[in-house]
Amino acid sequence: MKTILTGDRPTGRLHLGHYFGSLENRVKMQYDYDTYILIADVQALTDNFNNPEKVRQNVKELALDYLAAGIDPKQAHIYIQSLIPEVAELTVYFSNLVTVPRLYRNPTTKYEIQQKQAVFGKEGEGITYGFLGYPVSQTADIACVNSNIVPVGDDQLPHIEQAREILRKFNSIYGETFNIPEPCLSSTPRIKGLDGNEKMSKSLNNCIYLSDDEETISKKVMSAVTDPNKIRKDDPANPDVCMVYYYHKLIRNPNISTVCSECKNGERGCVYCKRELVRALMEFLRPIQERRKYYEDKPELVEEILKEGTEATKKKAEEVMKRVRENMKLDYFE
Ligand code: TRP
Ligand code: SF4
Repeated sequence: MKTILTGDRPTGRLHLGHYFGSLENRVKMQYDYDTYILIADVQALTDNFNNPEKVRQNVKELALDYLAAGIDPKQAHIYIQSLIPEVAELTVYFSNLVTVPRLYRNPTTKYEIQQKQAVFGKEGEGITYGFLGYPVSQTADIACVNSNIVPVGDDQLPHIEQAREILRKFNSIYGETFNIPEPCLSSTPRIKGLDGNEKMSKSLNNCIYLSDDEETISKKVMSAVTDPNKIRKDDPANPDVCMVYYYHKLIRNPNISTVCSECKNGERGCVYCKRELVRALMEFLRPIQERRKYYEDKPELVEEILKEGTEATKKKAEEVMKRVRENMKLDYFE
C-alpha cells in the first residue's frame, strides 16, 4: 500500500479554498492509501515564534476541521509534528543537501519574503534561518514516513519539487533510502474569492470558512461580485464573469443549468440568485458542521485520536530513521 503524507499549519480555520484545493482529495484517498495528516505546529512557529498561544489554540481547531471535513481516524493518522523528533533530526541531515541560494529561489518562499519585506522593510529583519529553511523541514515531514504521494494545493508545488531534489541527492550519496514523492493536485487547485480575487486566502480576507454560520455566509455572499453590466433584475447577464455563478458550480448545485439559463435570459435577479447560493452553501456545509459539533462535544475523543495518530507516525518514523542512520554510518552501538 502506498503512503500519503500531507497537512497544514495550525494558524487559522480551514476554508473552502482548502476544501476544494486538497481536503476533498485527502478524504477520498484515505481509503486506498496509508494516510498521514500532519498538524504542522513546528512549521507554524517559523512565522509565529512569538505567539505560541495562537499555535497551541489552532492545533485543536485544525484537528476539528480535519475530522469535520471527513478525515476518518480509522483510516488516517492525524498527528502533531512537534511530537515526532525524528523530523528535527532529519531536517539537520537534509540541511547539508540544499544551498542557501536554492532556498531563496523557491517561488513560494520568494513570494512570502516579498510579503514580509512589505511589513519589515528590505533589511531582511523578518527573514530568519528557520523561515528560509522550512521547506527542508517539510521534506523531513514527507521523508519521515517515506511518503509516495503528497496531496496539496498549488502553492505547495515548489516545496515538493525542493523535497524531490533533496531526497534524490540523499539517495545518490547515502544509497537508496527514500521514495521520491509525487505531488497530487485536485482538479480545482486554486479557488477564487467571492470578491473576484484569483485566490481565496486569509490575507485577502475573502474566505468562506467550513465553520461559518448562516448569517456570516449570507453577509459574504451578498457582497459578492456579479456581472457589472447587470443593473436591473431582469437584465440578461453573463454568468461566466459572476462569482456567484462560479460558487454555484464549485459546490455542484444540481440546479446549475437553470441558474445559467435564467441568468442569460434575464429571468433571475442577483439577490434571488445569492439567496439560493446561501441555501446551497449551508446544505453543502451541513454534514461538515454536524461532524464538527459531534467532535467539539467530545474533547477527550479528539485528544485520543491525536495521540493514536502521533504514536502510529512515531513508530513509522523510527523504522525509517533506523535505515537512515545505517546508510549514513551513524549507527554506532548497534
Ligand atoms: N506548508 C504546508 C502549509 O503551509 C504545511 C506542511 C508542512 C506540509 N509540512 C508538510 C504540507 C508536508 C505537505 C507536506 O500548510
Ligand atoms: Fe450572477 Fe446570478 Fe446575477 Fe447571473 S443572476 S449575474 S449568475 S448573481
